[in-house]
Parts: sequence; C-alpha cells; structure tokens
Amino acid sequence: MSSANYAVHGDVAVITLDNPPVNGLGHALRAGIVAGLEQAEADPAVKAVVVTGAGRAFSGGADIREFNSPKALAEPTLHTVIRAIEGCTKPVVAAIAGACMGGGLELALGCHFRVAQGDAQIALPEVKLGILPGAGGTQRLPRVVGVETALNMIVSGATVPAAQLAKTALFDQVVDAGVLDAGIAFARKAVADKLPLKKVRDIRIDYPDAEAFFQFARNTVGAVAKNFPAPLKCVDAVAAAVSKPFEEGLAYERALFVELVQTPESKALRHAFFAERAASKIPDVPEDTPVRRIAKVAVIGAGTMGGGITMNFLNAGIPVAILEMKQDALDRGVATIRKNYEGSLRKGKLTQDKLDARMALLKPTLSYDDLRDADLVIEAVFEEMGVKEQVFRKLDEVAKPGAILATNTSTLDVDRIASFTKRPQDVIGTHFFSPANVMKLLEVVRGKLTAKDVLATIMQLAKKIKKTAVVSGVCDGFIGNRMIEHYGREAAFLLEEGATPQQVDRALEKWGMAMGPFRMGDLAGNDIGWAIRKRRYVEKPEVRYSKVSDRLCEMGRFGQKTGAGWYRYEPGKRDAIPDPAVEQMIADYRKEIGVTPRKIADEEIVERCIYALVNEGARILEEGIAQRASDIDMVYLTGYGFPLFRGGPMFYADTVGLYNVMRAMKRFAAMPGADAKFWQPAPLLAQLAAAGRTFN
Ligand code: NAI
Repeated sequence: MSSANYAVHGDVAVITLDNPPVNGLGHALRAGIVAGLEQAEADPAVKAVVVTGAGRAFSGGADIREFNSPKALAEPTLHTVIRAIEGCTKPVVAAIAGACMGGGLELALGCHFRVAQGDAQIALPEVKLGILPGAGGTQRLPRVVGVETALNMIVSGATVPAAQLAKTALFDQVVDAGVLDAGIAFARKAVADKLPLKKVRDIRIDYPDAEAFFQFARNTVGAVAKNFPAPLKCVDAVAAAVSKPFEEGLAYERALFVELVQTPESKALRHAFFAERAASKIPDVPEDTPVRRIAKVAVIGAGTMGGGITMNFLNAGIPVAILEMKQDALDRGVATIRKNYEGSLRKGKLTQDKLDARMALLKPTLSYDDLRDADLVIEAVFEEMGVKEQVFRKLDEVAKPGAILATNTSTLDVDRIASFTKRPQDVIGTHFFSPANVMKLLEVVRGKLTAKDVLATIMQLAKKIKKTAVVSGVCDGFIGNRMIEHYGREAAFLLEEGATPQQVDRALEKWGMAMGPFRMGDLAGNDIGWAIRKRRYVEKPEVRYSKVSDRLCEMGRFGQKTGAGWYRYEPGKRDAIPDPAVEQMIADYRKEIGVTPRKIADEEIVERCIYALVNEGARILEEGIAQRASDIDMVYLTGYGFPLFRGGPMFYADTVGLYNVMRAMKRFAAMPGADAKFWQPAPLLAQLAAAGRTFN
C-alpha cells in the first residue's frame, strides 16, 4: 500500500513515506503527505513535523509505475506538496536515510530543516531520462550546495553520499545512524530555540562572473553531450537560478521540463529505462519462481570467451573452476585473466588485495572431477557441434543432479545440444558478448525443454554479475546476430552499388552507431561471416549475398587480426586506414558483375541498413523468438552499439512511423538490381503499419 503514515511522538508528528520499494512519490503518497501536514497543523499538541521514509529509502523520486498516467500530473502535484511544506507554520524537518533522489530530494529541499545519515545517497538523476528536475530542484539545490556542485550533480545525475555534502547548507545535521531520532530531537530543538523556519527559496545566490562560468559550462557540456539536449538545458536552468527571482526561475525550469519531455531523446531514454526492467520479466515464469542456488560455477574452455565469462563470476565473489584439455591452453587462459586484472590495477580500478582475492577464487583444472560440485557449468569450447556433443555427454555423466548446464554457442541449436544429455530441462544457452567481462548484454537462450526454474535462476544470476539479460528463443543467430546478418548483407550491397566501406561506416557512425559495419567486421573477424555465408549458400541458396565480402576474405583480409580487412592497420594499432587495394577490388568486382557505380546518399545508407534490422526484428517478434519489441531494442543498445538516443531499432522505427518505414522499403525494392524479396515487409510490420500502430 502506498501511504504516508502519520504518528505522533510526544509533541512531534512523524510523517513516514511508505510506498515500497523506494517510496516513489505516487499520487496517493503525495495526497497523504498533505493530509498529514494538515493534521499536524490542526493539532495544538503537535509543535513540529518530521518527514521520513520507511524501509531503506527516504524517497527515490517519482513513482515510475505512474509514469505517463494521469496520476502523475494529478493534484496534489509535487509542487503543491512542497508549497504546503514550506508554508507549514510549524517546523518541518526531513530525516533522510538511504536513497534521496529526484523528487525525493526536491521534497527534502522544501522542508525547513534537513537531518541526514552520512551514507544517504543524494542525487538529481533526471538527466539520465533526458529531462531535468521539474519540482524546483534546479532552483533550490544551487542555493544550498553552491552553483558548481549543484551544476555537477544536475548535469551528471551522479549520486553523492550525504557525508560529502555535510558542510553545505543542504544539511543542518549529519549523523552516523538513527536518523529518525536525530530528526525528532532536531525538531524539538527548533521549537525550543524558536529557530526561524528557513525556506531555501529565500536564500540569495551571490555568484560573481556567473555568465562567464555558465558559458564555460555550456561549452564543456555541449561537447560531451552531443546527442542529448537535456544536459545543456540543465545548465540553462541552473543559470536561471542565479539570474532570475525564484518564482521566475521556477517557471523557467518548468518550461524547460515540458520541452524536454517531448524530445525524441528523452522518449528514447525513458523507453530504454523501462525496456531494461521489462526484459527481466518472462510472462510464463512468475517472479516468485523458486531459483536454484548457484554457489560454484565451472567454465569449460579458457579461450577468448571462457576467460571473460569466468571474470564475471570472480568479480561477483563466486568461485569458478575453469577446465581445458591441455595444460598450455589452461595456463594461457589463466594468464590472460590475470593480465586483465593487472590492467585494471594499473589504472587504479582495482586494488592488489581485490586482485588476489579474485584470483584465489579461480581453480584451473584439466579434470572433470573438479566439476562435480559445480551448480552451474558454462561451456565455451570451439563452435563445432561434435565438440559440444563430446562436452555435454561428459557433463551429463559428471555434473551433480540439478546442476545447470549452459552453452555459450552463438549459432548452434541449443535444443540439439540439450539432447546430448538425459536432462535437457537443465540445459540453457547463455550467449555472452565479446569481451565478455565488459559487454552488458547476455542473451539467455530458452530451449524447448528448459525448465522454468533454470530460466529464473539464470535471469537472477545475470543481475548479480551486472548483465542485462534478454530472453531469446532458439533460432540461427538468436536475436542479435540473426538481425545483424541482414544489416551486414545490405551494407555489402551498398558497396556493390557504389559506396566505399568508409562512406558506409561514416554515415552510420554519424547517425549514431558506435561502429560502422565494416569497422565492426574488421574487429570481429571477417572470416566468421564468411563461414556463415558458406553455410547459407548450401542451406538457403535462394538468399542473395554480395560476393564482395567473399572476395575480401579470399585475399586473406580477415580484419585487425591479420593486419588488413576492409581497412588496413599499422602494426600494434587499431586505427582503420582506408585502403586503395580494397577500393580497387570493389571496382573490379562491380565491372565483373556489370554494375555502373552511382553516388549514394548517406540517408539511403542509413535507411537501408537500419530498416534491414527492423524488418528482421519484426520477423523475430512474430515468431516469438523475442518476447517483446523492447527486448530487441535492449539487445541492440547493450550489445551492438546502437545509439541510446534513438532508443533501439524497433523504437526508432516506431518514431519514424511504421508506415514511413514500409514506404521506404517499397522504394528500395523497386530500385534497379534490388533484392525485392528481401524488402518484402514482415507480415507483422505490414499489419501494424496498416493499423497505424507501433511495435512498442
Ligand atoms: P576460442 O577458440 O578462443 O576458445 C575455445 C577454447 O576452448 C580454446 O581454448 C580450446 O582449447 C578450448 N577447448 C576446445 N575444445 C575443448 C574441450 N573439448 N574441452 C575443453 N576445452 C576445449 O573460442 P571463443 O571465441 O572463446 O568461443 C567459444 C564459444 O563462444 C564458441 O561457441 C563461440 O561461438 C562462442 N562465442 C564467441 C564469441 C566471440 O566473439 N568470440 C561471442 C559469443 C559466443
């Protein structure tokens, strides 16, 4: 139940914000606070009021469950609540422990006094959702912590411990523990000493040379936050706190807030925020599904992926046994893990103690006997069904009953892998992305027979190792790689028709992709795509691919690892340098197939590559491989460098309008030499477009 509990402790009324998990300021809670204040005002025995939070937070801010609902805007709004507090004729003291963020901090800033626990987490994180604090935060915070500190907090959204702000006028007292008692004691003292009821709004800001400072801030912030409008607006709002009277500043803040809420960037950020939460939910696996205990993990294969996967668990304090077939491979794998940690040590991101503790959790082994007590085994051996079969048959013999058996395969059939065991219900895919210790994305591949508790366990474990887990059904390439193949395919056709690799990469990078398809190919290894295409030529001869990528591979240009791919690379460096030899190869190929190159606009490049993703995404959705469109967006935001400010491919298509996406696809299908079949819209896309609906 969301409520503001009212209780009287002698002569002090205590209003406790109680709306789990973080006392979000939903409508009922806001109304409850005002009612509590009225009750306190009316009771002559009450001399002062303390506002505090139940559980582990003061208040985390707005109630996200009410986002986009009329309740979010219904009276009493947070503005009204804050005015009621400010106007209370009895002292109101905020007693703050735990999270005090966003609207929660704005509420506290409306109180006459604030007492906090040193470890309380103070923040105005609205900028992370592409907006700014809209209930006076940008006007009041600078008045108590100073312009520079406030600006840093508001522009970054960063969390600061209360202890760090103890010397500022934000807090009247900072205590180590027992904040409610301290708050009540402070309230009594305020009454006894007849302390004047301070209103933050009345504090004057003296900031000489403000204009010069804000101009400097705008330059710095503008350079860092290129694709996001909110940080600059935060600067404008704080500048108004200095230059305008309070009420005018407040109105200005409000206007900026309303403007920002409407921006596509803010919509994209809010979409990503909710998409991340939604991804952890599986409709037929309720949240209270019992999970299996994972106290010990084993990883098979200490190569590129096995090593990175292992580090995730060591970082979370979970012991790992890592198994290889040969001593030298095992030594190499362990040395790489150590080298990675030593890199972090040098950068000051890890202490020697922590490094030692993590390495102590690692047990390198050549024997399956050491895997007998593992609760979870993750296989990361060569991508060959024969090798996977050998490993899973062996695991079936040695793993303890109930152990989860996971495969990191990126292309193979997880159901088939499960069939090598007598316990397919315990088998699941955990598709990590490279480098596995860094990349946020984890595709959790649900096999036909995967047990619900196995799925629930892996989803929970993903959180523990700080991954964003997205569930995928079994299909070739799962969600991410299945889509990326079409994107890469389209990029190669663009070369055939007249573009250069650098033009395609530049267009997509300018649009926001972290890396264009050809630079990405060079990084991942062009031979991987080549192997997949060779398989496709046999399995799906009707699907067209440009042979230009094969020609590149025939030249031995596999990418960075061979010093040359779509670009050339200087020894030891990663800078992609355009190579006339590649342009010549492409030109020769065009001649061979009789194509006269044409000039291709950046806009066409972007549309063709991104809509190729969208169309395959629609098929994935339709087939139930992805549970929801926003899951596909999460895969692309966290695993493929898709620009956050565009919200993911499906959200972006929604923004453009599915009707418009379809029209563009029709145009591409009609172009000379086009693969009309490829541009056939997925039935779901066609349906939604016709109905004027969206994916999300
Ligand atoms: P890798 O070649 O770097 O490492 C494989 C390791 O497994 C080698 O150290 C090898 O000695 C060991 N190994 C082979 N057979 C074994 C066996 N029977 N028992 C124990 N160890 C054995 O390969 P990588 O890149 O780490 O890939 C591993 C798996 O992860 C593959 O299934 C791959 O498709 C998948 N994957 C790879 C990604 C990448 O970017 N490299 C990304 C996502 C998944």
